[in-house]
Amino acid sequence: MRDPLATTLRSGAAGALRIEDAGRTVMLCGWIHRRRDHGGLVFFDLRDRYGLVQCVANPETLAASSFAVAEKIRAGDVVQVEGAVARRPEASANPDLPSGGIEVRVSDCRLLSETATPPIPVDAEKDSGEVAEDIRLRWRFLELRRPGLTGSLGMRHKIAFETRRWFDGRGFWEIETPMLTRRTPEGARDYLVPSRVHPGNFYALPQSPQLYKQMLMVAGYDRYFQIARCFRDEDLRADRQPEFTQIDVEMSFVGQDDVLETVDGLFRHLFSSCLGVTLGEIPRLTHAESLRRFGTDKPDLRIPNELVEITSAFEGSGFRIFDSVIGSGGLLVALRVPGGAEASRSVIDRWTESARAAGAAGLVWARRGAEGWSSSIDKFVGPERWSLAGERAGAAPGDLLLVVADRPHPARTVLGALRSQLARERGWIRDADDWRLAWIVDFPLFEAAEAGRVAPSHHPFTAPTGGMEALAGDPLAISAQAYDLVLNGYELGSGSIRIHEREVQERVFELLGIGAEEAKVKFGFLLEALEYGAPPHGGIAVGLDRIAMLFAGASSLREVIAFPKTTSASALLEGAPSPVSEDELSELHLRVIPPSGPA
Ligand code: AMO
Repeated sequence: MRDPLATTLRSGAAGALRIEDAGRTVMLCGWIHRRRDHGGLVFFDLRDRYGLVQCVANPETLAASSFAVAEKIRAGDVVQVEGAVARRPEASANPDLPSGGIEVRVSDCRLLSETATPPIPVDAEKDSGEVAEDIRLRWRFLELRRPGLTGSLGMRHKIAFETRRWFDGRGFWEIETPMLTRRTPEGARDYLVPSRVHPGNFYALPQSPQLYKQMLMVAGYDRYFQIARCFRDEDLRADRQPEFTQIDVEMSFVGQDDVLETVDGLFRHLFSSCLGVTLGEIPRLTHAESLRRFGTDKPDLRIPNELVEITSAFEGSGFRIFDSVIGSGGLLVALRVPGGAEASRSVIDRWTESARAAGAAGLVWARRGAEGWSSSIDKFVGPERWSLAGERAGAAPGDLLLVVADRPHPARTVLGALRSQLARERGWIRDADDWRLAWIVDFPLFEAAEAGRVAPSHHPFTAPTGGMEALAGDPLAISAQAYDLVLNGYELGSGSIRIHEREVQERVFELLGIGAEEAKVKFGFLLEALEYGAPPHGGIAVGLDRIAMLFAGASSLREVIAFPKTTSASALLEGAPSPVSEDELSELHLRVIPPSGPA
């Protein structure tokens, strides 16, 4: 069979050659990875997306013109080579290289394209990590030659491909939704696009296809998915890009379990097809339980330690701070640090700083030494209370307890953040290749916002548990049919059963402080659609970039996006964003107000 990679210029890929190819005559194209002279012969490694293969040019068997090319080529040049694949002599075989048992004995060599002196190392084995990231992003087309990045993009392709295959096999249709749209609230600022033909009017780039997929359900397309590009102008971090990709899903005639089971199936397939991993049962935790045990709604279940509530051990202790926290309905929450009794003052000070930065007033510590308990508040609280608390936390001799006393929210979330920090610092995650997925369910519908208002925990289209009746009570006590999928401490996806009745949607807008007039202007099309036979429906969106990052073992989305933005949302390769001319602006009916300088 003809090699599918064969073209008029090559018989196949250079980096794909293996020991089984010995004896074949080949024509290859690729980049010079490295070149060296040895005993009158010229050796060079030829590289392409598939890997590299060693080539040998021998002046005794090669035409002088070809040998001259071999002598002058340098790393980064593009060449075409003809030759015979031969087994390497035993002594020069390289077991570390997939093609290390063979070499190509060159019979002809042509220079196809010469390289300028590369500004960053193109020798792929060298870690270009030593070059500053902004320089690497500026020269991204060279950086993308690194095998690590090639592997990550290959993984990303595979995830997208297997996702499509899986959904196609289950009757889902991939339907594209618009990029030039009206804003969809997902909690971030919009990227706006001015309209030339409608002066003063703007499209928004979609923060997600949320409302379109709901429209598709009303239209009867009961199983939709899309690998959808989304845009959000928000503060960036290693796991956030302004432009990112979701695996977006919506289904009609479903309840929460149907969506969760569908996504379980997709992830089972992705883990086995992309990683060769058989996934166990995906546990479900309620939002409240996740906060109580891990201090976060994105728990990393690889970390063995859980938070422990020790309030009752200190009731009536006489220590003013504890008494006032307990008296006002607050909690004492502890994190056990195994073997932490020997932590130095400066280390504990650093943890205290982290706790303060996360919102705690302070951090109390207690050590269980050989002679019993001692703590940072020995003056106020005796060892008996600590031994009771220690028992609850399962503290062994040599352990340390870190304690935050506060309202439940900061107390748990502060220690949750500290738990993750200590897990990194103290190596609590023993098996980094462990995959711990979990569903977080039963989110609250709303969360408290400024000035006594409430904001959606997910988005305003999420159905309350219990329908219209549930909306009559305290808004902050309403539970939502919403769920998140988390993996090893990252939020991978988020979804809900949607509101499919106009009155319920209107009531939710009202509770959010969106008046009838405003709702009509912003979401009139949704409210209208809900009147024309909207089926019960629900769905989810999972971050494709985040899956790719975790599957590829990368620590930033920039490693799984071919042309990512920096943390200040700049594209350094092509230089975006960039100013535009006065003429272009006036065509769009725009004028720039220069930013005012520092006050
Ligand atoms: P949500 O806003 O939670 O939900 O987004 C879903 C998933 O998209 C990914 N994600 C991001 N990835 C990279 N960079 C970003 N800036 C970014 N923002 C979000 C995350 C996240 O879990 N319409 C709803 C989904 C639904 O209800 O069906 C939505 O967009 O992995």
